[in-house]
Amino acid sequence: MMTMQENQVWSEVDHYLINSLQPRNDKMEKLLQNNRENNLPEIDVSPTQGKFLWILAKIMGAKKILEIGTLGGYSTTWLAMALPEDGKIITLENNSSHIKVAKENFETTGVHQKITIMEDNALTSLSKLQKDNIKDFDLIFIDADKPNNPHYIDYAIKLARKGALIIADNIVRNGDIIDKKSEDPKVVGIRHFIDMLSNDSRLESVGLQTVGIKGYDGFIISFVK
Ligand code: SAH
Ligand code: DHB
Ligand code: MG
Repeated sequence: MMTMQENQVWSEVDHYLINSLQPRNDKMEKLLQNNRENNLPEIDVSPTQGKFLWILAKIMGAKKILEIGTLGGYSTTWLAMALPEDGKIITLENNSSHIKVAKENFETTGVHQKITIMEDNALTSLSKLQKDNIKDFDLIFIDADKPNNPHYIDYAIKLARKGALIIADNIVRNGDIIDKKSEDPKVVGIRHFIDMLSNDSRLESVGLQTVGIKGYDGFIISFVK
């Protein structure tokens, strides 16, 4: 153990926990394989994080979920698996090649009946949801372009029901987030997003740092009062 790099230990522990607590799921393996074959960036949530999202959705009894940022639909599938038969998830994505892969994957994993993909810039789709009065989501997962997080949280608060959870991915970014002077638009976006949360009396929020096979990152979970 002494000779291992810290992040190597994180990865090995993650693999150990996944192997012990998360039985192999051939359909999920096939989904990730299809992502690789189509050269999607490997930035899906990890299996541990996916199951964490599943558990949150399950304990809430979520029936309506909104996701911003689909990619190949790995996190979408974890969330969809937590829904009851009549549960629904709307997922927002603007990249048509990602959507093509995600659609194949939803067929593979058998969750397609529960999923609606809105293909457009997420901000356009969010304004459409608002205009069409499609709201009262139980859980909203924000995981797209980080510079837009300040806009996404504004919409999320409007589209969530009271008692909902709003979860944002990648809020630590290997620690870059504490650099006040950073000009990285992702860091600037997330810091602005965190400033908004800290001043918003409609929410009660917590930041959780995570380590594992995706390195050092974290989630913010906000409870809508
Ligand atoms: N939630 C996925 C990972 C999403 S990666 C998972 O864990 O499995 C981020 C995704 O957001 C990418 O597919 C990217 O194409 C999409 N995206 C980025 N900016 C966007 C925008 N403005 N509107 C819609 N989708 C966007
Ligand atoms: C990035 C985006 C993600 O959603 C993620 O989980 C990891 C990295 C990125 O844009 O760098
Ligand atoms: Mg992410």
